[in-house]
Amino acid sequence: MRKSLLVIIIIAFNSCNKTNSEAKISDSMNSTVVNNSIEQKIDSLLEIMTLEEKVGQMNQYNGFWDATGPVPKKGSQAEKYADLKKGLVGSMLNVRGVKQVKALQQIAVEETRLGIPLIFGFDVIHGFKTITPVPLAEAASWDLNIIEKSAKNAAEEAAVAGLNWTFAPMIDIYRDARWGRVMEGGGEDPYLGSKIAVARVKGFQGDDLSSSKTIAACAKHFAAYGFIESGREYNTVDIGTSTLYNTVLPPFKEVADAGVKTFMNAFNELNGIPATADTFLQREVLKKDWNFKGFVISDWGSIGELVAHGYAKDLKQATELAVKAGSDMDMESSAYVEELAGLVKEGAVNEKLINDAVRRILRVKYELGLFDDPYRYCDEKKEQEITGKKQFHEDALDIAKKSIVLLKNDNNILPLKKQGIKVAIIGALANDKTSPLGNWRLAAKEGTAISVVEGFRKYSGNELQYAKGADLVIPNTEISMTQEVQVNTTNTSEFGEALSLAKKSDVVVMVLGEHGMQSGEARSRSTIDLPGVQQQLLEEVYKVNEKIVLVLMNGRPLAFPWAKENIPGIIEGWQLGVESGNAIAQVVYGDYNPSGKLPMTFPKSLGQVPLYYNYKNTGRPVRDGNVFWSHYSDETNDPLYPFGYGLSYTSFSYENLNVEIVDTHEVMVSVDVMNTGKVKGKEVVQLYIHDEYASVTRPVRELKGFEMIAIESGKSKKVEFKLTEKELGFYNNKGEFLVEPGKFSVFVGGDSKAELTNTFTLK
Ligand code: NOJ
Repeated sequence: MRKSLLVIIIIAFNSCNKTNSEAKISDSMNSTVVNNSIEQKIDSLLEIMTLEEKVGQMNQYNGFWDATGPVPKKGSQAEKYADLKKGLVGSMLNVRGVKQVKALQQIAVEETRLGIPLIFGFDVIHGFKTITPVPLAEAASWDLNIIEKSAKNAAEEAAVAGLNWTFAPMIDIYRDARWGRVMEGGGEDPYLGSKIAVARVKGFQGDDLSSSKTIAACAKHFAAYGFIESGREYNTVDIGTSTLYNTVLPPFKEVADAGVKTFMNAFNELNGIPATADTFLQREVLKKDWNFKGFVISDWGSIGELVAHGYAKDLKQATELAVKAGSDMDMESSAYVEELAGLVKEGAVNEKLINDAVRRILRVKYELGLFDDPYRYCDEKKEQEITGKKQFHEDALDIAKKSIVLLKNDNNILPLKKQGIKVAIIGALANDKTSPLGNWRLAAKEGTAISVVEGFRKYSGNELQYAKGADLVIPNTEISMTQEVQVNTTNTSEFGEALSLAKKSDVVVMVLGEHGMQSGEARSRSTIDLPGVQQQLLEEVYKVNEKIVLVLMNGRPLAFPWAKENIPGIIEGWQLGVESGNAIAQVVYGDYNPSGKLPMTFPKSLGQVPLYYNYKNTGRPVRDGNVFWSHYSDETNDPLYPFGYGLSYTSFSYENLNVEIVDTHEVMVSVDVMNTGKVKGKEVVQLYIHDEYASVTRPVRELKGFEMIAIESGKSKKVEFKLTEKELGFYNNKGEFLVEPGKFSVFVGGDSKAELTNTFTLK
């Protein structure tokens, strides 16, 4: 050890044209390393690291400016700086911008004994500074190319701000609209969710992690966070193996196979074991069965929370459980930095586990190129040039308009005429320049979204007037992170102005929905209707003018059965990011023909939740003359809008659904899709299967293929799908993947209720 240190010191003096980090590490390696491979460099580095330095690599601290979780009671700013200087920190989160990043990287590289660079992580969830649609909205595009592009742009913008790593994509599958974090993922379906997950990982990481335009991705939250009971944030998860293997795990496996560099575990317990301490998930499934070579980070404080879960008696035991279970890096519990070295010294934790975790972390740092140049992401000039560049905005607009879903268009109320009509725009969200940015936008500036009012002014020459009508419900957390604040949501004093405006207008566009911070982490709701007095406002306006286009802005499915029944035009406009108003105006005025499809079922009422298209049949699926079947006595089982649903300004018909068995486990399906309307349009052709009987019951329908096609009016296209083992099989309750013989049904169409069907039988 002494000898290595000496080598480091001498070489550090001799290499003034290299960064300290490069000099200290690469040269200290030269004495022992023959070949330059990353693994050998790591071997050599591990040899000269003290136990404390190794544990330091496994420690991540929050930066000193922003927090995305409860600020820990221990660990002052001064203490964190001191740890940084001692080489006891491997990563920082929530530090951003070249200045901040460089300042801390300099400490790690130039002031610590080994000069190992930090890896800087941040929640780059939907854009970095140039905010794109919330992930649920992007999922509604079903367009994997633009989803990948969105992540690619976000990575580039984050990388020039000094960042190396995003805590995204969130690839949890979920079915409960009450959960605030549904805005952050790819929806309810494991097939669509897997495709989107891979597209996002590809977008963030590109082909070369060391490029200054790419960052490492993080698949989260491993696992089953999307199944928290009653949609209440951080709640317990208790699900069976069939759901775990067939619904929860597939997207994680797909991104592990696609080379995602990191995983984040989860806050929730799964069947009695908190995910952070779950050896089965992290060691057996992820690291052994899936051969994952990256590292696993805990969620914020989740190692410390093992005590509150009632799984560990104190922080020391929590540390032991987490590290043994395979959590490689500790986010903000200060558990590893305080307890881990001691546990190794007393023999409770084998140092081999530490070496393995550190190897994984160093490997990602090497792959990012941080050892070659720890400041490779720290070019202020580039930061200025690239941040918010025009191309990012153009792409953000493209993504936003493709994410919009047309839900209803009676008598072709849409698109609106661009000239010669009086348009009233009503609703607080219409003039809101922040809510459309949605949650998870820490790096963005407030008020930078194009509002609907602004978009409408740009895209039409109509006479246009705006009235707020009703306040939004402002979530407590928006006002104060710590205090419960009463928000008055019963104010109807501005209804009058909205009604008189509606009365004298040819058409009323009502922009209603959720405040931008009403969804996201810690934003579960116990209702899913239009918040506050907005429903009342809608009904009052309808009494004076029925010609209404309702534009919804929300981060989760909402239940609006009255609107579906009465309002002629309904658009799902989500939270579409900086270009929100422009995108909505382009759709309303027909510059873009909508093509989005819902990635989550929209329920009729809260009582139906969780509601999802790929449910099980039960033993009593239909009414058979008596009351004893699976149903509600006060509501139908049908959703308000099904998964996969979305209209266009044209219409499509489907015919000739052919099925051909090519091989034992290969089936070709083809269908003709015709544009039967008057304009060119795009359609997401969706294929569902039903495995009619199996050794473990299968859902009534499962999405197993989709393709977006553009067709001219009056023309048709043949679309082909190939079903292989992967699509035809399923996991049994032991986690074994099987393709069983027997009868299957196929359904192809424009949503999960597709009626065109055929069958085939596997031998
Ligand atoms: C907690 C969230 O669950 C996680 O997704 C996020 O990445 C971290 N906080 C860091 O902000």
